[in-house]
Amino acid sequence: MELFLDLHRGNGAPLRRRLERELRTAVQQGRLLPGVVLPSTRSLAAQLRVSRGVVVEAYAQLVAEGYLTARQGAGTAVAQSAMAVGPASRDPAPALTVAVRYDFRYGVPDLSAFPRAAWLAAGARSLRVLPDADLGYGDVRGAIELRQALAAYLGRVRGVVADPARLFISGGTRQGLGLVWRVLRDAGVRRVAVEEPGWPAQHETARDAGLQVVPVAVDGRGLIVDDLPALGVGAVALTPAHQCPTGAVLAPERRAALLDWARRDDAILVEDDYDAEYRYDRDPVGALQGMAPDRVVYAGSASKTLAPALRIGWLLVPAQLVEAAVTRRMSADRGESVPAQLALADLISRGELDRHLRRTRRRYRARRDALVSAVGQHLPGARVEGIAAGLHAVLRLSGGTDECAVVRSAQQRGVALDGLATFCQLPGSSPPALVLGYGNVSEPAIARGVAEVAEACRSAAGLRASAPR
Ligand SMILES: Cc1ncc(COP(=O)(O)O)c(C=O)c1O
Repeated sequence: MELFLDLHRGNGAPLRRRLERELRTAVQQGRLLPGVVLPSTRSLAAQLRVSRGVVVEAYAQLVAEGYLTARQGAGTAVAQSAMAVGPASRDPAPALTVAVRYDFRYGVPDLSAFPRAAWLAAGARSLRVLPDADLGYGDVRGAIELRQALAAYLGRVRGVVADPARLFISGGTRQGLGLVWRVLRDAGVRRVAVEEPGWPAQHETARDAGLQVVPVAVDGRGLIVDDLPALGVGAVALTPAHQCPTGAVLAPERRAALLDWARRDDAILVEDDYDAEYRYDRDPVGALQGMAPDRVVYAGSASKTLAPALRIGWLLVPAQLVEAAVTRRMSADRGESVPAQLALADLISRGELDRHLRRTRRRYRARRDALVSAVGQHLPGARVEGIAAGLHAVLRLSGGTDECAVVRSAQQRGVALDGLATFCQLPGSSPPALVLGYGNVSEPAIARGVAEVAEACRSAAGLRASAPR
């Protein structure tokens, strides 16, 4: 069985990545139709003159992303849900009264790692050549330079089917969600679903836009998609690559079921891809958007990769919602700072963001390892949950622990952190757990901070701190 794949494109990238991308693109563009059985790994490896391992890994990655299915005895085939949609071109922290010694609060990357010199150079370079005319009111969607750079970046790194015409630059994801919900409300949506537990901004922004919000539970395989059809919602917001905060990846069969549901019920999926660049044990699964650009609003931002203070995010909107989003945006504001957008465009186009990601990925991985090891040493009754990814981890406490008392006791010791309850709308819906952001904490501080958390757990349990350190 022959398969036409051009592995010369993107020369320089590792073979496995090129093969993955070629296969993904072939499915996205409808060259490989649902149900088509692919050559065996041995046969494709021989055809492409690559080692079999390259093909095995590429197939495995695309199975994880839901583009392919692998069945014992039946080989690997294009998933039925991986439907072609036409060519891409067509288109909380509590107030503390004590000094914070260890800051595990959620959501912050290593602020000392911000590439100041590269940012300054990018800003200077882009501003020097900026025509005077571009300092006026521009396209409300954002500077075309950034939209083009992001379209290429997101296609390359996240498997997103991006078209600059459908990209909107926002003042971060939170602001972007506000726009999305208003556009959906204008289109007749009244009820939406969000993850439980989930990022509080999901439900806060939806309520603020006048929508009814229905929480949907999450388990170890991500959002429980089977619960959606009964809810009568017109959209769902979710974090499929790394559920916030539990750290689960949306399982392949749920990705497929979610897309089926969205098509059947004419619903919109709001995919928040907030920290997908940071996965430490393997490549992240590709974005859902790549499988259904007509059903998914894709949201991302520079808050985890660079710094929240930039306040730069992006929304990739299905073609049918672009006009409504432009109208809504025009009535709200005139877009974001152009010089800042141009600096980011320059940073991305010159490969500086990629370099920064390589550096910070190593750093965050070491911090996560330090966290896991400190938990093993000081908190043997607790468990770090979720995949090795992102800038935070959920620490499941032993049953019966009073989460609120642990958080309070930790705060009194100068350890700032959140309990899982901060991410829940329904009181008592999750067993006791802590959410530990490790992105902005050094490895030695992580070890000492976790030892303090262990003390807080003992003190909350009313025990004397007598356990061995
Ligand atoms: C799930 C999730 N999405 C997005 C963001 C980024 O939000 P923003 O871009 O508004 O800074 C965060 C930040 O903590 C987050 O937790």
